[in-house]
Amino acid sequence: MRIPFLDLYATNQRHERSFFRKLRILYQKSAFVGGPWLESFEREFAQSTGSPHCVAVSSGTTALHLSLIAAGVGTGDEVILPAFTFPGTGWGVVYQGAKPVFADVRLQDGCLDPDDVARKITRRTKAIIAVHLFGHPAQMDALKDIARKRRIALIEDAAQAHGGSYHGHALGSIGDFGCFSFYPTKNLGGLGDGGAILVKRKSFADRLRRLRDHGQQKRFFPEEIGYNARMDAMQALFLRLKLKSLLPENKRREEIALRYLKALENKPSVIPLTPVGDHSSQSAWHAFVVRAKQRPDFLRFLEAEGIGNQVYYPATLPSLKPFRTFAKGRYPVADELARSCVALPLHPGLKEAEIGKVVKALESFKSPRRK
Ligand SMILES: Cc1ncc(COP(=O)(O)O)c(C=O)c1O
Repeated sequence: MRIPFLDLYATNQRHERSFFRKLRILYQKSAFVGGPWLESFEREFAQSTGSPHCVAVSSGTTALHLSLIAAGVGTGDEVILPAFTFPGTGWGVVYQGAKPVFADVRLQDGCLDPDDVARKITRRTKAIIAVHLFGHPAQMDALKDIARKRRIALIEDAAQAHGGSYHGHALGSIGDFGCFSFYPTKNLGGLGDGGAILVKRKSFADRLRRLRDHGQQKRFFPEEIGYNARMDAMQALFLRLKLKSLLPENKRREEIALRYLKALENKPSVIPLTPVGDHSSQSAWHAFVVRAKQRPDFLRFLEAEGIGNQVYYPATLPSLKPFRTFAKGRYPVADELARSCVALPLHPGLKEAEIGKVVKALESFKSPRRK
């Protein structure tokens, strides 16, 4: 039995019947873009996070890009973001002609190191993007402090963090903008691309709604340069169904993660990334990622055991071609993570036998002795 890294059908199967039933109604009403399904999803997603406004868009990358525009980020401005994240975190910054300034991350959870962020602030800093990497909450109090003192925007990249929380507040609802992706592999994954932005201020919500729809509020009369960045109603329909089971599914992810953690206790060669914080914070456990001291050995072991895995992320952002010109200084923790990270299967569709097999394999892993 090979355990796939991800089984989307197993994850989505429970929604299949109600989705197709509802899709027929949407099809007959032909409300494909905008309309009641989209508005209901925006309302329900906002409510689930305690945020006053949600603006649904076409992807997580777009959510970040439009947030940067609304935050006033433009040519020559600097935006601080982690050196270790998915490349999509950085696209909006360069789209705006701004300069990505990379800060290092922390070894325990892979999230931004607030001390390094403080060191990287200059007069030109316009925004900070904090990523809740693998679903683990970034240190929002410290980052909020820095942002408030310097009057700069704090943007949360919560693309991997649906349903997680930090000190009792939903991830994505804490900063000035909370950006989500609904790419199919996410905890709240759709049937294609999709994204959303949470904001507290109505003026930001209005601007973002305009930006996503050709810059117009009144049809055919754009007030500014706009984008076609809307979410389809079909995605909204599916996401509404899935939203109902997000928290129980996250709970299941956590149960599985705790079993993996136990299996890896006292194994200095394979160290899991874990959330920092007390019981008032909750990881969304999007991914279970370990640092393997001898990654090639560990990968060979997983393959031999039939355990699906993925190396992410194999490179830091400042080392990637599109971002290389912006690299400055060193990012030792990000480098270490890129060298050692491996993600193991973690999704709510995992069967008991599959979990048991992963646990057993992890317990038995011994790093080969080096000569
Ligand atoms: C941390 C992070 N940021 C941004 C994105 C971009 O989201 P999308 O793929 O929906 O554009 C992703 C998703 O892959 C992500 O994981």
